[in-house]
Amino acid sequence: MSPDLRYPALSDLKATCKRRVPWFVWEYLDSATGRESVKPRNRAELDKVLFRPAILRGAIVPDLSTRFLGQDYAMPVGVAPIGMSGLIWPGAEAALAGMAQGTRLPYCLSTVATRLPEEIGPIAGDMGWFQLYPPKDPAIRADILTRAHKAGFRVLVLTVDLPGPSRRERQLRAQLAIPPKLTPAMLWQIAQRPAWALGTLRHGQPRLRLMEDYLKLDGNAPSTAHPGYLLRAAPDWDYLHAVRALWEGPLVVKGVLDPQDADPLRAAGVDAIWVSNHGGRQFDGAPPALDALRQIRATLGPEMPLIYDGGIETGLDVLRALAFGANFTMMGRGWHYALGALGAQGGSHLAQILRDDMASNMMQMGITRPEQAATQGWAPSPAPES
Ligand SMILES: Cc1cc2nc3c(=O)[nH]c(=O)nc-3n(C[C@H](O)[C@H](O)[C@H](O)COP(=O)(O)O)c2cc1C
Repeated sequence: MSPDLRYPALSDLKATCKRRVPWFVWEYLDSATGRESVKPRNRAELDKVLFRPAILRGAIVPDLSTRFLGQDYAMPVGVAPIGMSGLIWPGAEAALAGMAQGTRLPYCLSTVATRLPEEIGPIAGDMGWFQLYPPKDPAIRADILTRAHKAGFRVLVLTVDLPGPSRRERQLRAQLAIPPKLTPAMLWQIAQRPAWALGTLRHGQPRLRLMEDYLKLDGNAPSTAHPGYLLRAAPDWDYLHAVRALWEGPLVVKGVLDPQDADPLRAAGVDAIWVSNHGGRQFDGAPPALDALRQIRATLGPEMPLIYDGGIETGLDVLRALAFGANFTMMGRGWHYALGALGAQGGSHLAQILRDDMASNMMQMGITRPEQAATQGWAPSPAPES
């Protein structure tokens, strides 16, 4: 049976994923932080964006192709960086990088992935972006950037929205440490998920391979330190300037919500701003990312490239973010729900869902190019005066 009949929407993939990955893995992927109010807030703001439906426009042939930061992509959506991606589904990094190369969408590899840039760069080819969590040590920072560049990653994403750890209570309850230490309860959960268990046996235990390389060389690290120890930098504007000086290609800063940060980032030579509240995983008091996007676009004017993420589930959601000022969108959890449901093939099925949904909604809106979404906004009538 065609996957489109069994899994026509991301919600089908999500429900199936939940049945196929161990509980502690599900809690890692699906959770946010605190009372988890940011996740529904992201969703609610997307749902509020409405468009004028078109009639009598004749045949509409949507063209989703998008040029962004000097590269052509098949549509304005890509794969956001997910740490420990290979824990969520065995071989996730290679599967999604391969999907991205085949489908012509950007794939962003996390610093804390379970595969090395040298392994994933050649698979992603010209679709590869690399995300940097800031290492404390400038020598490690320079070495990581050199390795990412040599491995073929073209765009660098510096994530700045982790000034300190977040509690992520669901992960604590699931006893998940990063890197994971197996407890008897986890082994029991794994035993109930044979496809995940066999895949993990084949691919090997998920580890933070890149940071492990440096931990071996760090004589000052406490003997109990885990590889994330090296990343506990508190980056400041000087840090950003240093990264800008080191990276010749496009530089994106990820995790921006405050319009007051937008102009200084542009002045610092950043090529694109990635508006994101980290999918609600860092700060439960954060505003919905779509609100921040609208304000940041208003502050910067039309030229500065903006990326949006947070709660995107459909092609229509991509158009909603574009209508509010984004030039490109990224999705995090969704691709991993797809892998959890369908294995390595999940990514291309989800890409097809997004493509078909975006094209279908563009026809309803009477537009042929995604960026025209900005002109089709529905203005609700003002509330009657009391
Ligand atoms: C399990 C998980 C791990 C993540 N790891 C990273 C990471 O390593 N680096 C990063 O910049 N963002 C990370 N993020 C945030 C995503 O890149 C992205 O901002 C977020 O998932 C977008 O929201 P969405 O999942 O609703 O699409 C992670 C998100 C999740 C769900």
